[in-house]
Amino acid sequence: MGRKLLLDKAHIEGIRYYDTYRSNGGYTAAEKALKTLGPDGVLDEVKKSGLRGRGGAGFPTGMKWSFIAKPEGVPRYLVCNADESEPGTFKDRYLMEHIPHLLIEGLLISSFALGANSCYIYIRGEYAWIPEILEQAIAEAKNKGWLGKNILGTGYDLEIYVQRGAGAYICGEETALIESLEGKRGNPRIKPPFPAVKGLWQCPTVVNNVETLAAVVPIINIGGDEYIKFGTGKSTGTKLISACGNINKPGVYEIEMNISVEEFIFSDEYCGGIKNNKRLKACIPGGSSVPVLPANLLLKTAKGETRMMTYESLADGGFATGSMLGSGGFIVMDEDQCIVRNTLTFARFYHHESCGQCSPCREGTGWMKKVLHNIEYGKGKMSDIDLLWDIQRKIEGNTICPLGDAAAWPVAAAIRHFRDEFEWHVLNPDESQKRNYGIAHY
Ligand code: NAI
Ligand code: SF4
Repeated sequence: MGRKLLLDKAHIEGIRYYDTYRSNGGYTAAEKALKTLGPDGVLDEVKKSGLRGRGGAGFPTGMKWSFIAKPEGVPRYLVCNADESEPGTFKDRYLMEHIPHLLIEGLLISSFALGANSCYIYIRGEYAWIPEILEQAIAEAKNKGWLGKNILGTGYDLEIYVQRGAGAYICGEETALIESLEGKRGNPRIKPPFPAVKGLWQCPTVVNNVETLAAVVPIINIGGDEYIKFGTGKSTGTKLISACGNINKPGVYEIEMNISVEEFIFSDEYCGGIKNNKRLKACIPGGSSVPVLPANLLLKTAKGETRMMTYESLADGGFATGSMLGSGGFIVMDEDQCIVRNTLTFARFYHHESCGQCSPCREGTGWMKKVLHNIEYGKGKMSDIDLLWDIQRKIEGNTICPLGDAAAWPVAAAIRHFRDEFEWHVLNPDESQKRNYGIAHY
């Protein structure tokens, strides 16, 4: 059995509530941070732990924290990104629903380390029932003296606020989130300046994902040096993976980042193999924004090495033969799945969610959707496949925020690895149309 650091107590009845959380060791890390380590001590442990951002980018957390500007008399903020909207990703939801105090404790320790007296949880609108769970946990923590004024007699003050989003995917992009939090339309800002310098209300702000901030609790409890023993290389600690698609056991799993992709998919401890004894065809390992991998490149790298559930191994080969761990949204496809249809579904999503600020994204996502639609519905030409390739190339790297790239990469990977399926649709228009008869389209 893999060791757990985040969900080890998630099965305990009543762990959602303060008393049970506390009687099972909760808030001991906060006590240690505030009374013994101090802000610099916390930062040191987080740096030592090698913790990387769990939202998708994998940016080193300690480094991000050390970038925060500290001008005299200017407030600093911590923002928890709970706008989990990446298709296939539902790990933060699980964590907030089952063990909300782990997040609140992580927010307390992290805010303390950053010198922030206000912390915001920005949560996606569709998670309509979770703010209540969080607000109850915040009220309990405040009632017990873990929030508010002069926490544990240290002179440190902290308030945590929950802000609901309104259902826009783009508000998960950190600067769009900040705009939305300020009450404006969620349009991403050009970076730099990064939020660590000019963020919320132009003040220094750290934006971290839910899982990242929760992971600070075990790091403080066991120490950064122990934390790195979970995992390998630059993939330290444990990672929550939300597994879905054609597998026997979809769900949220906490893995040590030292197991193989094959073990994750086929062992009974995790996904339990492919449903109905079908063959594994492909997988998107890190949420819809990362490249799809065909089965042969998923289980082994192009060099023939075992593909591991780590940042490095999943990215091995670059986008030619690799992908990314991303947000840990693990979407498994069996032999019956149509890659063109799948790519169209994502293209439709990105077009719908584009904020429309930059032309390559606004126009390109719609154009890709139309071309993919034509191919999928038996109205495409061979030249459309090259056209699609050209469009995605012109989006990538030419936009304000990563949504443009996120829309381009899946299209590129689908053509790169499954060109024959695109060609099949073009060469078999009648079959394509028949297959899609009666299915709703855009
Ligand atoms: P990014 O690589 O631009 O930034 C990562 C973080 O590091 C940001 O917080 C940024 O402010 C900070 N940073 C980078 N360089 C810095 C510097 N020089 N100074 C100060 N701070 C610096 O990536 P981003 O936009 O944060 O995330 C993109 C990823 O998000 C995608 O790869 C995708 O996997 C993931 N994603 C996750 C979603 C979810 O629901 N979990 C939704 C959509 C995308
Ligand atoms: Fe908006 Fe797309 Fe430009 Fe991002 S890339 S700022 S979502 S138009």
